[in-house]
Amino acid sequence: MTWHRVAELDEVPAGQGKEILVAGRIVALFHVDEDWYALDGMCAHQGGPIARGVISGNCVTCPWHGWQYDLGSGCNLLSGKKMLDCFPVEQRHDGIWLELV
Ligand code: FES
Repeated sequence: MTWHRVAELDEVPAGQGKEILVAGRIVALFHVDEDWYALDGMCAHQGGPIARGVISGNCVTCPWHGWQYDLGSGCNLLSGKKMLDCFPVEQRHDGIWLELV
């Protein structure tokens, strides 16, 4: 497991997401209030760009067909099944860091 510095502290405003490429993997990074989340960047349905989804509370809605995922668990809200991998994220003094398993 390796930590990667993936964003500047002010790069992703609260309430928004950003698609990032980390060690060859597409990841959706989200900033919600004071918290950070990171999920697989491609929707489990047809590969839609999760980072461009709409955030509502603790959930993101895929912009392509509306599948919804819990930001903290990667579970699909309809089925309750975990469909997206999640990654630990930390806000440090020098930026936003993410751990890839
Ligand atoms: S690709 Fe995400 S809901 Fe279809």
